[in-house]
Amino acid sequence: MTAQFPVARPRRLRTTKALRAMVAETSLRPAELVLPVFVKEGIAEAQPIGSMPGVVQHSRDSLRKAAAEAAAAGVGGVIVFGVPEDKDDRGSEADAPDGVSQVAIADIRAEVGDDLVVMADLCLCEYTDHGHCGIVTAGGYVDNDRTLQRYASTAVAQAAAGAHMIAPSGMMDGQVGAIRKALDEAGYSAIPICAYSVKYASAFYGPFREAAEGAPRFGDRSTHQQDPANAVEALKEVELDLAEGADMVMVKPALSYLDVIRRVTDQVSVPVAAYQVSGEFAMVEAAAANGWVDRDKAIMETLTAIRRAGASVILTYWAAEVAQRLAG
Ligand code: PBG
Repeated sequence: MTAQFPVARPRRLRTTKALRAMVAETSLRPAELVLPVFVKEGIAEAQPIGSMPGVVQHSRDSLRKAAAEAAAAGVGGVIVFGVPEDKDDRGSEADAPDGVSQVAIADIRAEVGDDLVVMADLCLCEYTDHGHCGIVTAGGYVDNDRTLQRYASTAVAQAAAGAHMIAPSGMMDGQVGAIRKALDEAGYSAIPICAYSVKYASAFYGPFREAAEGAPRFGDRSTHQQDPANAVEALKEVELDLAEGADMVMVKPALSYLDVIRRVTDQVSVPVAAYQVSGEFAMVEAAAANGWVDRDKAIMETLTAIRRAGASVILTYWAAEVAQRLAG
């Protein structure tokens, strides 16, 4: 006797690769991927980063080459992290006109023009000798409002160097408003802000701190970055940043916070970016190096999951590689 049930057989739409591709709900486009790049002042050749296989601290020359390659692959943008030679307690190099990030931004613009969106990460932790994201009080607390003045001036320096978009990542209260005001007053009212609105105090930034040489010398970032236990608070952060003029918002890290990406996406009407951070990258690379996961499949699966959660822009260290794969 022929079985009556099940009538619905979802497996019917999974029988061939072409059929699966036809009904796929989520896809990735190279233009929505952003490549984070590190550039170190004063080095002649790119230096490998131990905890991030395949990622380097760039020299000026190798950075230009990487930017050209990313543009050729169709990557949407790059986000620039500068590593200065000299650090001090106020992060003076962050807003110096000839500071490492400004030089790198100008170099990339000279190389690729408008073919990539050149984003400037804005924080002080790579520039301060103590490794904190702002001006630290005698008691060791990051002083919110004195830090805002440094961020405002850094945003203007980055825009003057040619950044297409400013991305403040320091998690100071009021940072978007302070930067918006400074940019407008300096004649950069057309430069958008992509706010790292939702940034958790995460263990997954470990490898980045080697790459950017910005680990705090004492304490941690839990008085300004968010507690991983909280999601409603993330919506509050987003609401404030939009009220202060953010054009895009970001959730970071990505994989441990897919629920937050979804909640933010459902709530706002601006593009939502998600940052697949250094620790997420390193976990897959390390497991793959041991033969424990299929590297290429794991990469595509994580990115698809972030996209499916609702992010429309993804920052990932695999951006150039994946863009090439999508094109090929
Ligand atoms: C702060 C900043 C950090 C990252 C991006 N911007 C580090 C931190 O907050 O400690 C982390 C990115 C990553 O882990 O890939 N400038």
